[in-house]
Amino acid sequence: MPWPTALCSRSSGSTRPGDAARNARPGGDVGNGATPPRAFPPQSLRRMSLIADLERELAARTTRGLARVRRTLASPQGARVTVDGREVIAFASNDYLGLANDPAIVAAARDGASRWGVGAGASHLISGHAVPHASLETELAAFVQPCATAQALTFSSGYLANLALLTALCGRGDAIFADRLNHACLNDGALLSRARLIRYPHRDVAALRTRLATTDARRKVIATDAVFSMDGDLAPLPQLLSLADEFDATLVVDDAHGFGVLGDGRGTLAHFGLASERIFYMGTLGKAAGVAGAFVAAHPAVIDTLVQTARPYIYTTAPPPLLAAALRASLSVIRDDAARRAHLASLIVRFRQRLAPLPWTLTDSPTAIQPLIVGANDAAVALADALWARGLWVPAIRPPTVPQGTARLRITLSAAHTREDVDTLADALAELAPAHAQLDKQ
Ligand SMILES: Cc1ncc(COP(=O)(O)O)c(C=O)c1O
Repeated sequence: MPWPTALCSRSSGSTRPGDAARNARPGGDVGNGATPPRAFPPQSLRRMSLIADLERELAARTTRGLARVRRTLASPQGARVTVDGREVIAFASNDYLGLANDPAIVAAARDGASRWGVGAGASHLISGHAVPHASLETELAAFVQPCATAQALTFSSGYLANLALLTALCGRGDAIFADRLNHACLNDGALLSRARLIRYPHRDVAALRTRLATTDARRKVIATDAVFSMDGDLAPLPQLLSLADEFDATLVVDDAHGFGVLGDGRGTLAHFGLASERIFYMGTLGKAAGVAGAFVAAHPAVIDTLVQTARPYIYTTAPPPLLAAALRASLSVIRDDAARRAHLASLIVRFRQRLAPLPWTLTDSPTAIQPLIVGANDAAVALADALWARGLWVPAIRPPTVPQGTARLRITLSAAHTREDVDTLADALAELAPAHAQLDKQ
C-alpha cells in the first residue's frame, strides 16, 4: 500500500512519511523573529535528489497556474479581515454563523483555559478525556440524534473522523459507494480502509442502485457529503437511505457544511426529517460551530467500535478541553439563536437574486456555499484577483479540488455579513462581467 502523502507516489519507492520532516530545516517565522539562528554542521556538497524533484514539480505546478498560496490574516475571522495590511470583505471562510470570533464563545474558551489548562496531555484513551469532552458528546448526540439511541464521539478534525469511520467499519471484501464529488477525506478514508471504492456520478441515485445491485461485497457503505463542499448542493439523502434499507447498507453522511446551518442547526438529516440506525453521521465543529474538531453520532455499537478500534481516534492527543468548553457555548448559540440562520438565509436569497442576470452559472445550492463556475483556471484566478483589487476576498478553486474545466469562485456567505456586503460583492461582479465574458472567449 503506498503511503498517502504529498512526497511519495507509487513509483517513488523507498521514502516514507516523516522523512521530509526529519530532514527539514527550520522554515521562516512569521512571528517576531526572536528565535536565534541555529548553527548547522558543514553540509555535504551532494544535492539531495528528492529536493531537486520537488523543486521541478513545484515549478511545473506554477507554470500550469495551479500553485496554491496562503494569505496570512492579521485579524480574527469575520466579515472583514485584515490581510497584507489591508482590510477586505471576506467571502472565503466556512464560519457560516459568524461564531469564530463571537465574544461569548471566546469567553467560554478563556474560562475553559482557566479551569482546564491549555493541553489535553494525552490521547482520550490514556488520560486526555475530560469532563468538557464528555459533556459535549452527550449534548451533540441529543441535538443531532441520527437514531433514537445515538451516542457521539468527538475527534480533532473532520478529516480524522472520516478516516476513523471508514477504516473502522470496512476492510478487504467490503465496498464503499461514494458520490464522485465527495470531499477528499471520505475518499482517503475509503482508500485507507482497503475496501473497494466504487464511485457513482454526482447525486445519481439510479447509477448507485445499479452498482449496489451488482456487488458481492460483504459490507456495503454508501458515503456522501450532505452538502457538497465545492458546489453547495444537497445529497439526495432520503433516496440514499431507501437504497441503504433495500440493500442492507450503511449510510455515512458527512455534514461538514450542513451542521449548524440546516434543519434548525441540527443539520441535513433534520432538514430532510431522517433518522435511522443505518445512518452514521459526521459533523464538523470548525465551520458553522466556529471552533475546531468534529464528531460522529451513531448507534452505541458504532461509537464503541470507534473507541475500541479507530486508529485516528486512539493514536492522537485529545483536543484541548478548553475547545470542548468553547464548543458547548457554540452549541447553545446554534440551538437557541435562530436569528443568525434567518439572516444567513436572507443573504443567500439576496445573493442569488442579484447574480441571476450575470453571465455565470450558479449551482443548485440552497446553502451558504454559492460557487460561481468560471471554467478555465486562469479566468477563475483573474476574476478572484480583480475582486481582491476591489477589497473583496473570494478564493478561486481549481483542479484537482474540482473537476477539470470547472474552476470556480467559491463564495461563502455568513451571518456575519450584512446585506450591504452582499450588494458590494454583487456590484463588483456586475462590473467585472463584461471583461470576464471577453476573457472566456479567448
Ligand atoms: C465535506 C467535508 N468533510 C470534511 C472536511 C474536513 O473537516 P475538517 O476541516 O474539520 O478536517 C471538510 C473540510 O473542508 C469538508 O468540506
